[in-house]
Amino acid sequence: MDFHVGTIGDLINSTACDRGARLSGEFLDALSAIDASGFSPAHPIRSAIAVAVVGDPELFVRSFRRHGVAELATSQTLDAVAATLKPTELKVAILAHAEDERRHSRMFAALANRAAPFAACGDDDNEWVLDIDRRFVETYNGDVIEFVSDLVAGEVRSFFYLQSYVEAIESARPAYAAKADTVLRQIIEDERRHIGYTAGYLDEWLRGGLDIRPSMAASFRNFDVVTWADVAATARHFMDRFEHRASGSTNAAWCSDSSRIAAVAIAKEG
Ligand SMILES: [Fe+2]
Ligand SMILES: [Fe+2]
Repeated sequence: MDFHVGTIGDLINSTACDRGARLSGEFLDALSAIDASGFSPAHPIRSAIAVAVVGDPELFVRSFRRHGVAELATSQTLDAVAATLKPTELKVAILAHAEDERRHSRMFAALANRAAPFAACGDDDNEWVLDIDRRFVETYNGDVIEFVSDLVAGEVRSFFYLQSYVEAIESARPAYAAKADTVLRQIIEDERRHIGYTAGYLDEWLRGGLDIRPSMAASFRNFDVVTWADVAATARHFMDRFEHRASGSTNAAWCSDSSRIAAVAIAKEG
């Protein structure tokens, strides 16, 4: 498996090759437009988050527990949407996909449990993750194109997340993450299949004259926003842990003016 897939287009194209399929030029152009629009799943900041998570047992356990709950939430959503579909190949594929995500949920939970003795953290309440999917199902409008677009974007996001975890684990090899890289590689193989079949439907619909591009662009934009929110949450976690908040001293505002600090540093260098 090529582990250094840098763009969405490269990744989706490689999953099409896995299936012995060729994507249409129109679909590849649409993917290039998404790559060029600023969504950068292989952004170095994602690797930085993975290194931070893998290097910290507490963050590792909390993140992997949450991934486990998110996988369970996705499986329930897939089941609910499949229930609205007529018996088609898509319905069968979505039900099989739900089964995979349920298995991933158990795999993430097992990895978190194995690491838990190394971390001083209690149970987190991850019910909010399930709530997001419950709300989605309650308000689902039956638009399969939008739903499959969201799946593609979500699966691509997972792929890049897991890829950066594996790279961080293989370089740091912390004891609490023993064998996690092997387990994550198994999950990645499934995620690649999920990208392959969902993107295959979007391409087929596009060839058939349906303009899937606005939905697909919106889905990737939405997941981009979530990724940046993850970056912010990880930064907040470290700020809270080390109580690195402005102290309230008279110089606090002056210190937190980064442009001024940079100016002072440059002046000193000069
Ligand atoms: Fe998954
Ligand atoms: Fe998946």
